[in-house]
Amino acid sequence: MSAVAMSAVAAAAYLHHMELTSADPARLAEFYDRVMQMRAEKLGADRWICRGADRTLLVSKGRDKALGFAAFACRDAEALDGLRLYVEGHKGVIEKSPSPLFDDRAFAARDPEGNAIVFGLAKTPAGESSRDIRGPLQHITFGSTDLVPMEKFYAETLGMALTDRVKDANGRMTTCFVRSTHEHHTVGMFLKPEAGLDHHSYEAGEWTTIRDWGDHLGQLHEPIVWGPGRHGPGNNLFIFIKDPDGNMVEISAEIEYVRDRPVKEWKHEPYTLNSWGPAIMRI
Ligand SMILES: [Fe+2]
Repeated sequence: MSAVAMSAVAAAAYLHHMELTSADPARLAEFYDRVMQMRAEKLGADRWICRGADRTLLVSKGRDKALGFAAFACRDAEALDGLRLYVEGHKGVIEKSPSPLFDDRAFAARDPEGNAIVFGLAKTPAGESSRDIRGPLQHITFGSTDLVPMEKFYAETLGMALTDRVKDANGRMTTCFVRSTHEHHTVGMFLKPEAGLDHHSYEAGEWTTIRDWGDHLGQLHEPIVWGPGRHGPGNNLFIFIKDPDGNMVEISAEIEYVRDRPVKEWKHEPYTLNSWGPAIMRI
């Protein structure tokens, strides 16, 4: 039976793993092993794989604070084939998948800022350990110098659903959230002076699990650099830490499950980013 075109939402594509690049990948891998409970193993020359409960990160030699790729797993082979047809039918250019964790059915498409978004099938369950604090890899966000083509790529070419937008007093979009699952966003994008990775996030599920992360980070003397707070869009509770390269890493809980509701527009102001007060404004 031939595949039927399927959007990223219909394919239930969830953020499965991602690759960061670093001038010092050994140091970065050690951080994710120790702080984020993702056991690091060497995966060839200058490449590490860090795996915890439902969270996997590849760290490779390259530019600091840069994304290698973000990889989404589809619910099954029919969905993956359907999504490829969908992307091809919406002017997406299919590239070979750069991920060693997906098989050769996987493919990639590049957003207008050059970020490689990969889709494939999860071969093996993540390296679960009951001792790990809960925190599946859940979303990734980008800085962008022009959000309009970025939104178009994620919403139209990949078929993610637009959840919320933030606009300034002049009507200019400053933030945009899209989702490929029922969770408020699996990708977010912020208007910034420079394009690139903004942050990635692990979803702890419950406030008390953020408490457990806070206790764990405190024992390691790893400072929380933003939060605790609650985002407006997504309604998620959060804390942020910084890895040794300066990448912002979020631990979130209670992210909104979106069912039937219209796209909401938020005001560009600190209280939208953090309804409890202090905000890191991107622009
Ligand atoms: Fe986030």
